[in-house]
Amino acid sequence: MSKANLLRMAGALALLAALPQAAQAATAQKTTSSASAASLPIGHCINMGGMLDSDDWGGKKLDAGDFVRIRAAGFDTVRLTTNWVNHASDTAPYTIDPAWMARVTDMVDAALANNLNVVLNSHYFPALDADPLGNAPRLAGLWKQIAANFANRPNSRLYFELFNEPHDAFTPAVQAQVVGPALAAVRATNPKRPVIVSGGPWANVDTLATLNLPNDPNVWPTFHYYDPMDFTHQGADWVSPAFPLGRTYGTYWDQQALINDPPKVTAFAKRTGKMPFIGENGAYDVIPDPQRAEYHKAVYQAFTKVGAKVCVWAYSNTFPFWDYDTGKWHPGLLSAIGLKEQP
Ligand code: BGC
Repeated sequence: MSKANLLRMAGALALLAALPQAAQAATAQKTTSSASAASLPIGHCINMGGMLDSDDWGGKKLDAGDFVRIRAAGFDTVRLTTNWVNHASDTAPYTIDPAWMARVTDMVDAALANNLNVVLNSHYFPALDADPLGNAPRLAGLWKQIAANFANRPNSRLYFELFNEPHDAFTPAVQAQVVGPALAAVRATNPKRPVIVSGGPWANVDTLATLNLPNDPNVWPTFHYYDPMDFTHQGADWVSPAFPLGRTYGTYWDQQALINDPPKVTAFAKRTGKMPFIGENGAYDVIPDPQRAEYHKAVYQAFTKVGAKVCVWAYSNTFPFWDYDTGKWHPGLLSAIGLKEQP
C-alpha cells in the first residue's frame, strides 16, 4: 500500500518553524479557551489495524477475546478499520456481501458487549481517492447499507467514520460533494448517529485548518498524527522513498513540533466548537519499544493537554501494542498513554 508519507510528512516539516517564547505563551492561553468545545467520548482508544481492513492480515482472525483483553487493559474505544469495497459489488446498488456484513456485525457487537465504544470506518477505498466525485455514489451506497444494518445500536456507543485519510484527488475542494451524499445516506436511518470526518491530504494535523464540517450537530472531526514521519515510519516499505532506520525520538525539533501542533487543534476547536480526536498515532515496530513508548508518551501528553483524545495505531499487525508471539502487551506502551502496564 502506498501511504504517502511525503504529504503526511509535510505536517512534520511545517513544524520546523519554531515559535518564539512570546508566541508560546499566547498559545497556552488559547488552549484554555477550547476547554468548552464539545467532544466525542473517545477516552482511551486503539485501532484494530490490519484485521477487518486487510482480511485478517498475518492470519490472526479478530475475535471477541481481543475485545475482552483490550477492555481489561483499560481502553474505552476501538476503531474498527474496515474494508467494505472489496466485499461489495462495484456497480449500483453496491450490495455488500451478506457474509461480510455478518462478520463485521459480530465484531461490532462483540466490542459493544465488552463495554467498548466503536468507531466503524471505511478504511480502504483507493478509487475514492483517485476519483472522488465518480465514487461518491458508491461510498453513499455502502454507507446506506452499513447504516441501516447498525441503526438500532446505541448512538452513544457506535460512531461511523465515512472514510480514511482522503488524499490524491480527494481534496478539500471536493470534500463537501463526497460527504454530502454519504452523510445523507446515513441520516436516512440514523438521524443522530455520530459521524466522523477528516480532511485531506492524509488527515494530517494541518488539514484541520481547511476542514469544514457540514452543518450537523452530530458530525465530528478527526485527524492523524504520525509526525515526525522519519521517526515513526523509518524502515516502512510502504513509504517511498524509505526513511533510514536508526532515527531516535526526542530531538529539539521533535519537541518544537509538540509545542507548535496542539494549538492547531485548539484553533479548530475555537472555530467550530468541536474538539477533534487523533484517530491514528503510532510508530513502526522496527523501532525499539522504549523509543516507541517515549514517542507515544510525548504525543499523548501534548495533545490530551489541549483536550484531544488519542486512538493509537494499533492493536496488532503494523505498529502493534499487543504481541501475539509473547502473549503480552509491548512493554511501556500502555503506561505511555496513561494506562496500567499489564502483567
Ligand atoms: C494503514 C496501515 C499503516 C498505518 C501507518 C494506516 O492507516 O492502514 O496500513 O500501517 O496507517 O502507516
